[in-house]
Amino acid sequence: MERILDQKLVSSWFDVHQSVPETYVFPPEKRPGKLNVPLCKSIPVVDLGSHDRRDTIQQIFKASQDFGFFQVINHGVSNKLIDDTISVFKEFHEMPSKDKARECSKDPSRDCKLYTSSENYANEEVHYWRDALTHPGHTSEKYLQYWPQKPTQYRDVVKRYLEEARNLGAVILELLAEGLGLSAEFFNGGHSDSPMLLSNHYPPCPDPSLTLGLTKHRDPTLITILLQDTEGLQVFKDGNWIGVEPVSTAFVVNIGYVLQIISNSKFKGAEHRVVTNSRVARTTIAYLIYPSNENLIEPAKALCNQNPPLYQSLTFKEFLKNFKANFKSKIDSTEAVLQTISLSGS
Ligand code: OGA
Ligand code: NI
Repeated sequence: MERILDQKLVSSWFDVHQSVPETYVFPPEKRPGKLNVPLCKSIPVVDLGSHDRRDTIQQIFKASQDFGFFQVINHGVSNKLIDDTISVFKEFHEMPSKDKARECSKDPSRDCKLYTSSENYANEEVHYWRDALTHPGHTSEKYLQYWPQKPTQYRDVVKRYLEEARNLGAVILELLAEGLGLSAEFFNGGHSDSPMLLSNHYPPCPDPSLTLGLTKHRDPTLITILLQDTEGLQVFKDGNWIGVEPVSTAFVVNIGYVLQIISNSKFKGAEHRVVTNSRVARTTIAYLIYPSNENLIEPAKALCNQNPPLYQSLTFKEFLKNFKANFKSKIDSTEAVLQTISLSGS
């Protein structure tokens, strides 16, 4: 099992090929197309250090409606910790594949794991140009005992990072809740208490016009908070792809399906994808804020006074089952995911 995985990792073989292996070449209509899309200066960069709370809420509300994406600066997480975190994940993905596989195979429940392309590798027609490390975002010993111990700083740095990410997530969720007219604590507890960490790694690719790091998708999260230091993330807006400009020390925040449902479609889960490049490896760190499995996902009652609820209620576990089934069955299934629970009939 381990042997097989470590040979499949893109990072284990990308530098011995002059061209893209066939199983990574997308059919022409699914290729990324024009690669030099404009980097978007219009995706708002919100200053969380501002003392004008109402203005901050307004900016975040508007960005969530217009793009489903925004960036935050002056968020209180130190630049040193951000740099250390990016470094530790870069170092992790650069370790020999066997070491990576070994460091990620301690968890009997496989919540901490390393994989490549998507979790559905065996059944994919075309693979994505990425490796991924994931584990729960909680930092107690119960979880931490299964994390990698190499690089040697991994547990220390990632623990501190996840504690900061949790606090930042709570701050952003409060601002989003208030913007929607909900109580500031609305997303506390079951709506947000099962975070996951996901570190994506996209090695340099000999021909980025043929491959994708990740296909067009929306995240099955409440929100996702991402660290990136290199271009590659693109947002689908009004029929065009636009690049999310890396802003050093900023976090990129995007709205996921769960918040789309709870907000009764006031916010839309943002469609995005990742393209590869031929120059440098790109490593990102996502903090995925998920509800707990038994949490009921439904449009907030307070948002259904004037507008009828657009979605049925279901537990997050049921939602995920739906999401995975739809995602597997169709490549371009971002709409199909919500259709089964839609009450609007459209
Ligand atoms: C994801 C994702 C973006 C990136 O993991 O869902 O969209 O730039 N990642 O790695
Ligand atoms: Ni995503």
